[in-house]
Amino acid sequence: MTSNEIRQKFLKFFENRGHKIIPSASLIPENDPSVLFNTAGMQPLVPYLMGQKHPLGNRLVNVQKCVRTQDIDEVGDNTHDTFFEMMGNWSLGDYFKEEAISWSYEFLTSKDEGLGLDPKRLYVTVFEGNDDAPQDVEAFEIWKKFIPENHIYFMSAKSNWWSVGENGPCGPDTEMFYDITEEGLGDLSIEEYKKADEQQKVVEIWNDVFMQYEKKDGKVIGKLIQQNVDTGSGLERVVMAVQGKNNIFETDLFADIISKIEELSNLKYGDKSDEEYIKNGEQCWVDTRKMMRIVADHMRTSVLIIADGALPSNTGRGYILRRLLRRAVRFADKLGFKNGSLVLIVEVVINKYKNVYSEIVKNADSIKNEINEEESKFRQTLENGLKEFEKGVDPFDLFQSYGFPIELTEELSKEKGIKIDREKFDKRLKEHQELSRTSSAGMFKGGLANHSEKTIKLHTAHHLLLAGLQAIVSPDIKQKGSNITEERLRMDFICDHKLTDDEKKKVEDWVNDKIKRGLNVIRREMPLVEAEKIGAEMEFGAKYPEVVSLYFIEDENGNAISKEFCGGPHVENTGDLAANPEGAPKHFKIQKEEASSAGVRRIKAVLE
Ligand code: ALA
Repeated sequence: MTSNEIRQKFLKFFENRGHKIIPSASLIPENDPSVLFNTAGMQPLVPYLMGQKHPLGNRLVNVQKCVRTQDIDEVGDNTHDTFFEMMGNWSLGDYFKEEAISWSYEFLTSKDEGLGLDPKRLYVTVFEGNDDAPQDVEAFEIWKKFIPENHIYFMSAKSNWWSVGENGPCGPDTEMFYDITEEGLGDLSIEEYKKADEQQKVVEIWNDVFMQYEKKDGKVIGKLIQQNVDTGSGLERVVMAVQGKNNIFETDLFADIISKIEELSNLKYGDKSDEEYIKNGEQCWVDTRKMMRIVADHMRTSVLIIADGALPSNTGRGYILRRLLRRAVRFADKLGFKNGSLVLIVEVVINKYKNVYSEIVKNADSIKNEINEEESKFRQTLENGLKEFEKGVDPFDLFQSYGFPIELTEELSKEKGIKIDREKFDKRLKEHQELSRTSSAGMFKGGLANHSEKTIKLHTAHHLLLAGLQAIVSPDIKQKGSNITEERLRMDFICDHKLTDDEKKKVEDWVNDKIKRGLNVIRREMPLVEAEKIGAEMEFGAKYPEVVSLYFIEDENGNAISKEFCGGPHVENTGDLAANPEGAPKHFKIQKEEASSAGVRRIKAVLE
């Protein structure tokens, strides 16, 4: 059975049981700046799980495109990938556990309507209970009708409670695992089962979530107004089980991509590569399998992300895309690809998905252009980084400022007989990651009332305003405080006079010009001393850590028109400030300029 047939069978199976088929939403979430990509089928359906009526009724089925990159370093093993398709059926306050579990079992095992998987190879887990919800005896009893009791395990909330983030619908779940070993594992004690899971001998192929609770700020606060079912079955893993493979990369979803990689590298999947390492005093070679899998995965994900409209950049989802592409270039190089040949894989990916996701065909040319351009940009980066490397620049600064991977610095150093202080690098990287975490956790919100789209736009407008005041009124102007809500921004700044009407008008024009020109907003992290050296704006009297996050707004020639110490978040491009789906483009407007205290002025401004 092919992956295309499995997708179709899934949709048909649930259509026959009263479900309406809905198309996959874009990978890029609408109206939700808090997440970069859709990571689960339920994400675009949250309002309906919370009680809003869906126009197509209360039984839905879909195959949703998802991207998850938190396990990027695991890609290359048997089951991890960064893009995947999640097949799901949904009950919005309609059926509950009995139907959900029975249908999951039937679809997995039925030979005609379903996949005909071997019931003896199935294991399931159910929720063991905690203070939030009781043990799921009901799910256990339903499962007992289909599979032997010693293939059912009670597990804690850590594995069997599902929610997306800290807020929203959630609930206990029951997960289905399939034995993918050749010999078959038979009956397993709970310890044996956990070990088999760790060793990827059994893999999760479906998760039925009984969404009946709501979470707020990480705590379960009560029940939803309706009982929902949210199920998710990863197509890649299901295909692997159906096609009798022990890894996703040998299924028909990846086979053509891997063949193309073999052709472009002139190597066979599994050949030993030039990468060597020493183990127990013996020289060993890394086999090409993992590298080919990484290139295949990252290229597939990049193509699908660009097809949905994201472009490589230094922030947010653009940065994730850039990272995937740059990693693909690095591994393609290790495999011996010729420069500029990554784009040849794009064709294969497009072919694979052209009948499933039409946007991929529509955007084929721009996908190819972007990938080509990013590859050559990265090669330029590598070249510049190399020059810095020759000058003896610190490996972390190379990584930070040039995107120069540490592995590459290490390789080059080895060639030159220089020793790299890897410990120091790891320490600085850790500081940098901690900073990213604290800033994304909101500790650097810097006067932001919340992280809604409107607030974020006004936050970027705030940076433009400061730069505008310095450009028009006086380079000595310093920010003294800020407060930003969804409606307006407020800035206090040190200035010795009341602004004239002419100055206000010129500042507004200056800011609106930058909005109109659609300039890039870029986040960079660097050591505090370096940030001070380049003269980035810092808030008067604030204390900063050793490594800081900065936001730059750059003009068409890459010159910074604004650089500020700031943890974000911001829009990616100043053009976003003008966006107004309901009418004419928005403009920046100063509503009020007044004295705040001696020598300090206060501006209130809006986008309208
Ligand atoms: N929302 C559930 C998951 O992503 C089905 O696993």
